[in-house]
Amino acid sequence: MPGREGQLDLHLRHMEAGDLADAMRLKELAGWNQTEDDWRLFLGSEPEGCFVAQVGSRVVATAATMRCGPRLAWIGMVLVDPDFRCRGIGTRLAEIVVDRLRGHPTVGLDATPAGRKIYERLGFKEEYGVLRMRAERAPEIAQPPGPLQPLQPLGVGDLEAIASLDRQAFGGDRQPVLEDFLRRAPESAWQLVPAGRVSGFCLGRPGAHSHQIGPLVAQADEDAVLLAGAALSRLECGPVVMDVPEARTGLREWLGRRGFVVERAFARMYLGEAALRAASRAAQGMQFAVAGPEFG
Ligand SMILES: CC(C)(COP(=O)(O)OP(=O)(O)OC[C@H]1O[C@@H](n2cnc3c(N)ncnc32)[C@H](O)[C@@H]1OP(=O)(O)O)[C@@H](O)C(=O)NCCC(=O)NCCS
Repeated sequence: MPGREGQLDLHLRHMEAGDLADAMRLKELAGWNQTEDDWRLFLGSEPEGCFVAQVGSRVVATAATMRCGPRLAWIGMVLVDPDFRCRGIGTRLAEIVVDRLRGHPTVGLDATPAGRKIYERLGFKEEYGVLRMRAERAPEIAQPPGPLQPLQPLGVGDLEAIASLDRQAFGGDRQPVLEDFLRRAPESAWQLVPAGRVSGFCLGRPGAHSHQIGPLVAQADEDAVLLAGAALSRLECGPVVMDVPEARTGLREWLGRRGFVVERAFARMYLGEAALRAASRAAQGMQFAVAGPEFG
């Protein structure tokens, strides 16, 4: 790739807080839903894990990484300014972040159709498809019953138990992400606690264009629907999105009957350790909505 980008005088460096406006401009050009809070979550988790590419003084590309414990790392926010696409910049950034994460046995990401070719060349393999489902307005759903078991609002004191369940479903530790989502959208945070032990939960966060519900971890379709219904019932208006693994047909049909349509598709891809990939496939049984392509 150096040939294509070589003529550009490309300069790669770590992202700083002062780059947030440029980072937001790039994600807006791509029509993505993230807010500055999402970027700050990446920057706060590891400032040296976020990169920008500059041509002259212009920031033309970004990439972010997050270490989710010792075994799994995640890549997100790979964005190239439309004026500078197809010149090898996306590939170069992906190579840099993958290289940086070499110590992790598994690296994951959700690829867009545009990004997929880059990651396939680097050895990533698709594990399953994820569909972004979107409703223009939050559907009207009856408020969940009061403080009755097993559906309960999720609070800060529940985070450790939730993070442990999330680790089983997702394959990595991302408690800071869960904590941040809870702080930003407590109304979307619910858990199922049958017999005093948490068996499922959902969280959400505000987006630039749509509120997003996810992650949603549950043991069965009917539990996933209960959690999604609780989170949706507290939304004032739309639009709202959920990123649902393709295989979760029960939840997708339930959402479809409430006005959700498929907006776009991602490919959940992994590089590395086969065992963890197999585990992630098995865990699809618990993962009914992912946190989002950038956070896994
Ligand atoms: C995906 C993206 C990052 C690629 O950046 P880039 O700098 O154009 O990538 P490269 O120049 O390294 O191109 C890599 C390959 O992808 C192809 N490609 C680039 N944009 C593409 C698009 N929109 N659709 C299909 N293929 C595309 C290129 O043709 C190239 O293939 P080639 O080497 O066989 O010609 C850029 O298109 C982008 O920012 N898209 C919007 C956000 C996005 O989808 N990000 C990816 C998240 S996984």
